[in-house]
Amino acid sequence: MRAEILALAAQELHPRGASVAALRLVQARFGWISTAHLREVADLLGMSADDLDGVATYFNLLFRRPVGRHVIMLCDSVSCWIMGREPLCAHLCRKLGIRPGETTADNAITLLPTVCIGHCDHAPAMLVDNTLHGDVTTESLDHLIDTLRDTP
Ligand code: FES
Repeated sequence: MRAEILALAAQELHPRGASVAALRLVQARFGWISTAHLREVADLLGMSADDLDGVATYFNLLFRRPVGRHVIMLCDSVSCWIMGREPLCAHLCRKLGIRPGETTADNAITLLPTVCIGHCDHAPAMLVDNTLHGDVTTESLDHLIDTLRDTP
């Protein structure tokens, strides 16, 4: 992975241009970006760990804390709110036994709020493991949860 990150950095005017791509590589391998990994990447890119942490915490698809095997990011912006995001969130929390920002005890699912994901014409919307879902209903959520729990 270090070689891949250095190769990404070599394609940029400044190695820091590879920050997001490098962090995505780390996350793809480990599921999240630990401080130890962040420091290693910062060293490779010639950045301070604080600067790179600023990048990592700016993008809400980069996780600085451990997450479950699957991540549900339920949009909490205005179109989704108008279209019933709150009752859906309450349903999810009840079904999963967690609150937003938490992970189920079996480490299967993390529930996170997110700002608009650009799927407003199909609100309420969410990202599940980077796949867009629109026109979400309690029924579709129930089916999704059952599927996710059975998926490694
Ligand atoms: S407001 Fe939810 S996708 Fe845009």
